[in-house]
Amino acid sequence: MKSKPGSTAPHTLPDGAVSLADHEHHARLMLDDAVWAYFNGGAADEITLRANTQAWQTIELLPRVMRSLAGGHTRVNLLGREWAHPILVAPMAYQRLAHPHAEQATALAAAALGAGLVLSTQASTLLEDVARTVLPEADRGPLWFQLYLLPDRGFMQALVQRAEAAGFEALVLTVDAPVQGARDRERRAGFRRPADIRAVNLAGRVAPTPLSLRAGQSKLFDDLMTHAPTWDDVAWLRSITRLPVLLKGVVHPDDARQALTCGAAGLIVSNHGGRTLDTMPATATLLPRVLQAVAGDAPVLVDGGIRRGTDVLKAMALGASAVLVGRPVLHGLANAGATGVAHVLRLLRDELEIAMALTGCRTLADAPGALLTRA
Ligand SMILES: Cc1cc2nc3c(=O)[nH]c(=O)nc-3n(C[C@H](O)[C@H](O)[C@H](O)COP(=O)(O)O)c2cc1C
Repeated sequence: MKSKPGSTAPHTLPDGAVSLADHEHHARLMLDDAVWAYFNGGAADEITLRANTQAWQTIELLPRVMRSLAGGHTRVNLLGREWAHPILVAPMAYQRLAHPHAEQATALAAAALGAGLVLSTQASTLLEDVARTVLPEADRGPLWFQLYLLPDRGFMQALVQRAEAAGFEALVLTVDAPVQGARDRERRAGFRRPADIRAVNLAGRVAPTPLSLRAGQSKLFDDLMTHAPTWDDVAWLRSITRLPVLLKGVVHPDDARQALTCGAAGLIVSNHGGRTLDTMPATATLLPRVLQAVAGDAPVLVDGGIRRGTDVLKAMALGASAVLVGRPVLHGLANAGATGVAHVLRLLRDELEIAMALTGCRTLADAPGALLTRA
């Protein structure tokens, strides 16, 4: 755990924390400056990072009153199964930076709170250990494994087989980060991943030998991008797995249609939490366009800047099938391990129920009626 140097703060729930913002504030005090920059920073001027939260805030809700709400619930259907609510934990790398219990703590909390979990390829915990934690929990949410397409296809196939054998129920292929964004805040802070915190599920993969470039050639285009995934790779991935494959980071309507043509079982509208291409629109702005293109042919999920139950309700009202939450989970983890993550997820779920009750939504199918302006 990268606590603030000299910090003696205990790993307990922050006193009086009643919102995700309270968890964020406390986590800032707990974490080393460079780790904080890695977790909370975004690309370049962080315009997209800020836009994500602001866009949800500026969508207005118009309540309906005195409707009968008895028997209401937050249940949703996703990939053929019913789940208690539409909140999933987004895939996030190297959670051991936040707390020694790392992804195990996140998984335990998510399972206990009925939230879905998407485990990052770059997790600092073995995928089998996470699956063993989640799968026995009766009230758990969906368990998915996130992938980046690796040049070492033999290794990648073996990794997919491991995820299948461990009991993961879907694969999430992240397609919006063929190269890391220019994360200035992180670079300024001098973040370096400690050698003992590793992507343990990727041990043994063979990295491509760097090409020796001629004068005038570009390291990015003439070397790195020769291994970057293309649409054909989606077909390849589908050919080696029986699991549904969702694509994360599709934001253009034409790409959304192409993804479905390639057999994607669902899409996650995401700008990687503002960590890749700065000045992309907020995901609340992108979501309606993707939904229109998909026209109900596959579930569309969304992440980026979701910090309140009202944000979850708005995403569902726009037509999302579920939402993913990123950084707030890391804040809860840094603050109090599994208890902290559970508290963050509990707050969000409670806020969602309150928002539904106050807008007159008995179920999430009623959510579109809660928006002041329909998309
Ligand atoms: C520290 C950190 C690590 C991340 N690692 C991954 C990753 O390994 N794979 C991935 O697809 N997305 C990754 N993401 C992006 C998240 O899955 C998600 O898209 C984003 O955090 C959602 O925005 P939010 O943090 O505002 O909720 C990461 C995000 C953060 C903050």
